[in-house]
Amino acid sequence: MTVLTIPAWGVAELVEREPERPGLGQVRVRVEAAPVHPADVWVHDGTLAALLPDAPSYTPGWGVAGVVEEVGPDVVDLAPGDPVLGLSDWFDTFVGTHASSVVLPARAVGRRPGGLAAAQAAALSLNALTARQALDLLDLPTGATLGVTGAAGGVGGFALELARLRGLEVVGVARETDRGFVEGAGGRLAMRPDDDDADLAEALRAAAGGGALDAVLDTAVLGAPALDAVRDGGVFVAVTGPGTPASEREIRVDTVHVVGDGSQLAELALLATDGAITARVAAMFPLAEAADAYRTVAQGGLRGAVVLIP
Ligand SMILES: NC(=O)c1ccc[n+]([C@@H]2O[C@H](COP(=O)([O-])OP(=O)(O)OC[C@H]3O[C@@H](n4cnc5c(N)ncnc54)[C@H](OP(=O)(O)O)[C@@H]3O)[C@@H](O)[C@H]2O)c1
Repeated sequence: MTVLTIPAWGVAELVEREPERPGLGQVRVRVEAAPVHPADVWVHDGTLAALLPDAPSYTPGWGVAGVVEEVGPDVVDLAPGDPVLGLSDWFDTFVGTHASSVVLPARAVGRRPGGLAAAQAAALSLNALTARQALDLLDLPTGATLGVTGAAGGVGGFALELARLRGLEVVGVARETDRGFVEGAGGRLAMRPDDDDADLAEALRAAAGGGALDAVLDTAVLGAPALDAVRDGGVFVAVTGPGTPASEREIRVDTVHVVGDGSQLAELALLATDGAITARVAAMFPLAEAADAYRTVAQGGLRGAVVLIP
């Protein structure tokens, strides 16, 4: 198998290794597509160095879509040949999907309908699952008003669509050029202020009809200025520890930590196949050109996933 390794910050090398055999409760997936996320870039460039254990090299990659190659002795609900999508709980295991095959816990791997292309499924694997689990954490009643920052981004875009499917009123913070996407997903656009933090809460409240919002999901990691838009006693969910503001005004403040869940991934794959959520793919790169893929993600401004194809 071919594996992308990072032996030093900023360096990416492909190495050949013997494929691992799946153990109890595990499956080996032949990777057809694996997304590159901002966190992969931060592993590559050393931004996350303080969080990583000492190791000769790292292989990044959270999400994956592919086909089951081999299953562990006790795995009965997946079989070789099944098209799947999955998630590596990377910060717990450091097992990366930027490779031609990967061994994952079977519980983190779900079936993918044959009609859903691997690149699209890969686009769902981390970001749609994070959005879904963030909405679970928000736990809002039907009709509640939710603000989503980074609404045109990877996690935010899925959050917008999934929130509407749950019957929430959604306001998405994004650029004017993203209006079509935000409104197409059933949300209202709150124009992203250029740099004045004070304008953010005002923009969210104005787009919501004037009052404070019941909740905010802060995928753009804006922190306290986004919290200002939430009503007293509302809910705020952040996507990173450092981006989680202190609670105030009896607002429940939480941080989502995505966990691989094959059943939830399978549900998301069905929603994408039905057109209820949109798996956007911005670019595809061969695994051998991973360095270019990482550079593309590092530049930002993407509207859709960057996907590696082994
Ligand atoms: N906790 C977890 O389990 C988990 C899981 C997955 C991801 N994450 C985190 O979630 C975050 C988002 O990931 P992603 O893949 O969705 O990233 P992304 O696709 O780059 O989306 C981020 C969005 O935020 C917008 N944004 C950036 N700065 C902004 C600002 N100052 N004001 C308003 N909007 C701003 C960007 O808009 P422009 O493109 O227009 O600049 C972009 O649309 C990352 O920090 C990632 O590490 C956490």
